[in-house]
Amino acid sequence: MDLYEYQAKDLFRAHGVPTQTGEVVRDPDAARAAAERIGGAVVVKAQVKTGGRGKAGGVKLAGTPEEAADKAQAILGLDIKGHVVHQVLVTGAADIAEEYYVSFLLDRANRTYLAMASKEGGMEIEQLAVERPEALARIPVDAITGCDRAKAEQITAAAGFDAAVRDQIVDVLQRLWDVFVKEDATLVEVNPLVKTPDGDVLALDGKVTLDANAAFRHPDHADLVDVAATDPLEARAAEKGLNYVKLSGSVGIIGNGAGLVMSTLDVVAYAGEDYGGQKPANFLDIGGGASAQVMADGLEIILGDPEVKAVLVNVFGGITACDAVANGIVQALELLASGGAPVTKPLVVRLDGNNAAVGRKILQDAGNPQVELVDTMDDAARRVAELAQGA
Ligand SMILES: Nc1ncnc2c1ncn2[C@@H]1O[C@H](COP(=O)(O)OP(=O)(O)OP(=O)(O)O)[C@@H](O)[C@H]1O
Ligand SMILES: [Mg+2]
Repeated sequence: MDLYEYQAKDLFRAHGVPTQTGEVVRDPDAARAAAERIGGAVVVKAQVKTGGRGKAGGVKLAGTPEEAADKAQAILGLDIKGHVVHQVLVTGAADIAEEYYVSFLLDRANRTYLAMASKEGGMEIEQLAVERPEALARIPVDAITGCDRAKAEQITAAAGFDAAVRDQIVDVLQRLWDVFVKEDATLVEVNPLVKTPDGDVLALDGKVTLDANAAFRHPDHADLVDVAATDPLEARAAEKGLNYVKLSGSVGIIGNGAGLVMSTLDVVAYAGEDYGGQKPANFLDIGGGASAQVMADGLEIILGDPEVKAVLVNVFGGITACDAVANGIVQALELLASGGAPVTKPLVVRLDGNNAAVGRKILQDAGNPQVELVDTMDDAARRVAELAQGA
C-alpha cells in the first residue's frame, strides 16, 4: 500500500526523522486557516499517490494565508497522471541550501535490501539514475545487520555528502531504516532531503510503501487506508478476504487459482473480440477450498457490479473436487435467493478435473435456469461473451 506524503511524514515523525508539521485540507478556506496557524510562508502540496507533483503544478509556495487559499484552489481538482487531487498538505516553507536524495527499498532482483543516496536530489532522480548513475550511490543492506551506524557511514561516504551534514544524515538514515523495518515497508524514500542555510537536515518529501502482507502486525496501519479512494467493490471484497480486482469489462470472472483466473481473463478477452469487444469485469480467485460461503461471497461481489452482464465460473477441480465446487455453487445460489437477491444474470460454468462428471450432474439436477454448463474453457469463454453482448 502506497502512502500519501503526509502519512509518510507522520511515520517519519514517529521514528524521529526531522520533518515539518503540516495540515491536510480539502478546500481553500481550510488552507487559508491552516496557513494562518502555521504562520509565515507555506508550501501547498497536492496529496496524490504518484510522483512528479512539482512538475505538474501540484507544489506551490504561498507567502500569505490568502495566497495559500488561491494556490489550494488551483491545485485541488488537478489531474496529475490520472490522479485527481482531493486534498493538499499545507506545510511551512523551508529555506533550501541543498537538496539530497536517500531511500531504502527491497531489491527483488538481487534478493537484498538496497540503500540509495545522492547529493543531487530534487525532482529528477529517475533521470539522474539513467544519465549519471555514478552520482547515485547504491549500497546493499543486509537484512540481519540492517542499517547500523557503520552501514549509514558507508552510505554517506559513497554518496559523498559534505562533512557538515554527514553526521546528521547518518542519524537520519538509521531512523529511516527504523521506519523501513518497524513499519514493514518495502520502500522508504526522501526526495528531497534538504540542508537549510542554518545547516539543519530536514525531510521535505516522503514516499513510503507498506507491505500489505505484514498488515496483520500493524492494526494501526488500517487507518492509513484511503477508503474514499478505494473501489467500493474491492473494499467489500477485501472485507470478505477475497482476492478481487475490479476491471472495466462486462464479463464477471470466478476461478480457483490465480494462474487459471489470469488465463481465463486472456481467453475471455480474446473470445470477446468476436462479440462486440466484451472484456473481463474483474479478477477473482476463490482459491483452493471453495466453500459455498466463499462462492456466495464471490458471486455477490461480482453481481454487485452493475457493469457485469454475464458471469463465467471456471473451475479446475483438484484437492477440492468439482462436486464440492458444484455443491458450493448450488448452495451459493440458494443463499443469495434466500437473502433476497436471487441471481438474474446468466452464469456460464465450466468444470473440469477431479470429479468433473459428478459436479456437472449436481448442477444439472439443481436445474437453476440461469446456470449453463459448457465443457471447455474456450467454448465457455465464447458463450459468456455472447451472453454479455446480448444482455
Ligand atoms: N516545505 C517546503 N519548503 C520549500 N520548498 C519545498 C517544500 N516542499 C517541497 N519543496 C520544493 O518543491 C520541490 C518538489 O516537492 P516534492 O519533492 O515534495 O514534490 P515532487 O518531487 O514533485 O513530488 P514527487 O516526489 O512525488 O515526485 C522540492 O524538490 C522542493 O524544492
Ligand atoms: Mg519529491
